[in-house]
Amino acid sequence: MVNKSYLDNLINKYKSSKDSLKENNLENSSSIHINDNLNNSDSNENLKDSKEVSEKSLNLYGKENLDSSNSSYSNQLGSSNNIKEKYTSIDNLIKEHSEDLFKNKTDLDKLDSSNIFLKDDNIITSKENLKENSKENLDINSKKYPQNSNDFSEKKTDFENELEKETKSHLITKYGETEIYRLDGQTMLHYKIPVPKANPSQKMIINTLKEATTRIISTDPYKIRDPLQRRNIYYQKVIDILENASEINIPKHLFSFYADSVVKEMTGYGVLESLLNDDKLEEIMVVGPNKPVYVYHVDYGMMTTNITFYSDNSILEIIDKISRTIGRQVDISTPLLDARLPDGSRVNATIPPASLDGSTITIRKFREDPYTITDLVKMKTVNLEVAGFLWCVVDGFGAKPSNILISGGTGSGKTTTLNVLANFIPESDRVLTIEDTAELQLPIKHVVRFEGRPPGLEGKGELSLEILTKNTLRMRPDRIIVGEIRHKEASTLFTAMNTGHDGCMGTIHANSAKETLVRITSPPMNVPPLMLAGIDFIIIQKRLRTVKGQVRRITSIAEVTGVLENKPAVNIIFKWNPESDVLERTENPIYYFEIIKTYTNLSDSQIKQKIEKRINILKGLVNNNIRDLKNVSNIIQEEYIRAFSS
Ligand SMILES: Nc1ncnc2c1ncn2[C@@H]1O[C@H](COP(=O)(O)OP(=O)(O)O)[C@@H](O)[C@H]1O
Ligand SMILES: [Mg+2]
Repeated sequence: MVNKSYLDNLINKYKSSKDSLKENNLENSSSIHINDNLNNSDSNENLKDSKEVSEKSLNLYGKENLDSSNSSYSNQLGSSNNIKEKYTSIDNLIKEHSEDLFKNKTDLDKLDSSNIFLKDDNIITSKENLKENSKENLDINSKKYPQNSNDFSEKKTDFENELEKETKSHLITKYGETEIYRLDGQTMLHYKIPVPKANPSQKMIINTLKEATTRIISTDPYKIRDPLQRRNIYYQKVIDILENASEINIPKHLFSFYADSVVKEMTGYGVLESLLNDDKLEEIMVVGPNKPVYVYHVDYGMMTTNITFYSDNSILEIIDKISRTIGRQVDISTPLLDARLPDGSRVNATIPPASLDGSTITIRKFREDPYTITDLVKMKTVNLEVAGFLWCVVDGFGAKPSNILISGGTGSGKTTTLNVLANFIPESDRVLTIEDTAELQLPIKHVVRFEGRPPGLEGKGELSLEILTKNTLRMRPDRIIVGEIRHKEASTLFTAMNTGHDGCMGTIHANSAKETLVRITSPPMNVPPLMLAGIDFIIIQKRLRTVKGQVRRITSIAEVTGVLENKPAVNIIFKWNPESDVLERTENPIYYFEIIKTYTNLSDSQIKQKIEKRINILKGLVNNNIRDLKNVSNIIQEEYIRAFSS
């Protein structure tokens, strides 16, 4: 927060306090209340004079904090059994730290005015603001001090101010703490969520609490996979510290603000955390500094938000955190990052010089509660009749599971549909999944999941989907599922399909059945046209804009009927009617049924009966709103058990 030499001093002092703490010698250190320090007019004066710290020293501070979380010291303390002792030490530590921060006039005097105060995403933007903040908020007990965390959002972003100047806003909807506005003269809606904005003194307290919490909890936050559990554990620890370290005198009504802020810093992604916690957001997009963060909302599509990063460095900090958790590095030589967050969300990050106008982050959020066939029917992505048909062809009428590709544009819901269809796979099948970033969620037990990996820094260690797909062929698969087919793995997969491995599935980026086949036979996939006959069905899915917002629909289902004069032929069997919004059966015969008849002795009417039976089961799910993955899967598997024992 302050210039480099001051920071170094502080860090050194802090380190030596760690050492003395180790020996439990801190009990006797002088007791100073943060409260007293905050009221200290001298420190106010000094803060007024301080300006932004250079980005370099900001980094330094951040790094030091993070490093300390991994030190053997924190592990030692974390494993100690004497909680009481820990708190006493922490209490003193906080006191000492706060003494450094607020009282050490000589150090503050040394502040170089060219080293200006933090210009962080959620902190101070100008010297004037700084003055105001230090005057108004430094006194924790004063009446002006915010009564709840929402009050911190008072300070508006430039973007918000601009919006308010030029436009009138109309509240469209409100849920939880989120408000969604329509703004006159704007085609996009605006998403507003309270963002706790800490002023410098609060930021210091938050950092100190963060240190203390890090020392008490020895587990790396990323080892606790369940994000909610992780948040709760950390939240409770901070509250414990605040309650036990009574001498730091933080008023009770601010406990939740501090606990929340500390948890966000420790386990989360700063200001993005509130967005990550909103289940209604599908995507979060940081497009660079001084521009609003964009979100893609389930019901309202693309929106601007009231969150803005004011420096590239604050975006970099988050990217740094993400890459560290997965053991990768993002720098000038590798400016692109494709990763999966511990909660399963997919992240792509880019930094300059790759992205010209600053660093970017794109997060495709993971649904903890994945969509099931019930949801797809309810959202009208597919109708019951076609859903029953798809169930039968995935299972292959117990005889010939079909090979299925799901095609569509980005975000059209391909992976989701793939997941839903994969949930129709009987539990008796051995399933192998291969993905770039693991997204599929199959509740069955006999599944082996593979995830590819890009080459490391020296260009070694790549695990391509092609290598993984080849390997699965040696694992006696019943089903091979490739999340997204893009490169040479296509050849391997098609070889598998053509050599009797039925029931393969995957998604592919294309807009129609024909285009799908063209893409598969062109570079870089280069599948020989003759092999295309291995595919039984291509499902085309689209994301469509309508007056009611965006919807996702299966717009056609085609069979690949063979290759004519080197050109693959497709047979469209279902087509979406935009007028009635129904996926209708076309007049074309379904050749797959003929194949089924060669494998079984089912007649046409028996095939029809089987489909109808499944449509009825699915109808039961929809009518009774049975939608969670576990229950839906159980009901699907029960149907197989019935068939097996009859
Ligand atoms: N049928 C659907 N209806 C509504 N939203 C959907 C549907 N399918 C997927 N989504 C949502 O759309 C986003 C993109 O879905 P995803 O399956 O990852 O798309 P793709 O694989 O085509 O890029 C996700 O947030 C997902 O929850
Ligand atoms: Mg996908």
